[in-house]
Amino acid sequence: MSLFSHATLERNSLILTVAILVVVSIGGIVQIAPLFFLSSTIEEVEGMRPYSPLELAGRNIYIREGCYNCHSQMIRSLRDEVERYGHYSLAAESMYDHPFQWGSKRTGPDLARLGGKYSDDWHVLHMADPRAVVPESIMPNYPFLATTPLNYKGFKDHLKTNQMIGVPYTDEMVENAESDIKAQVDPFGDDYDALLARYPKAQIRDFDGNPDMISELDALIAYMQMLGTLVDFSAYQAEGENMR
Ligand code: HEC
Repeated sequence: MSLFSHATLERNSLILTVAILVVVSIGGIVQIAPLFFLSSTIEEVEGMRPYSPLELAGRNIYIREGCYNCHSQMIRSLRDEVERYGHYSLAAESMYDHPFQWGSKRTGPDLARLGGKYSDDWHVLHMADPRAVVPESIMPNYPFLATTPLNYKGFKDHLKTNQMIGVPYTDEMVENAESDIKAQVDPFGDDYDALLARYPKAQIRDFDGNPDMISELDALIAYMQMLGTLVDFSAYQAEGENMR
């Protein structure tokens, strides 16, 4: 009877264990080893850029308020999700997210492609009192966002921190962080060309409808209105999709 005959393996727990380990590790090596030789597993997609400072500030508020406890930002590649929310999420779409906001619970709908779905006015009403626009809503009220000034003093440091962990903010972007926040909420300002050069497709307007103050709501709506709008899906084709 040879060492690796079925009978020997079955009767010898030690030999069986070692054999299982060998077989399983082959599977592991095949799956894991190539990852060490790839510089990135994220397929690059045209249109992705780091968040503008105002959008990043809005994102910070989204995290602070715990919106991720009820909302996901990840559309799965399942038919019902794609029909409801739009194109499934791509890895590249969250590559500048630290931490990512995929979420794990949907008490409310997925927000990955929220941008442009509603007007700013709708968001203003909805954030103050969701039941004003969706009578059956169970979402909490956030009326204080509209009356709280956005604290963006020293906001450079937020960009710098993101830069440190690999988000490609340039030094010029870091330097201009605070003035870019002001420029993005001022449709009559004169430096929005520079802002647009740094952050293509940035939406520039007074998001909360109150020109007297840059509020936390300005930042949050700017963030919500850009979600899912950077990649042009009419032009996007996944690698290998044409091979079917
Ligand atoms: C307790 C759970 C809960 C929390 C926390 C919550 N939401 Fe909601 N949200 C909901 C529910 C439920 C709905 C669906 C009803 C409605 O539209 O109000 C919703 C809907 C929405 C919608 C409309 C989405 C769509 O496609 O119609 C937006 C935008 C939104 N929430 C943003 C936020 C933001 C921003 C925060 C954090 C400041 C937040 N939500 C926190 C439960 C929640």
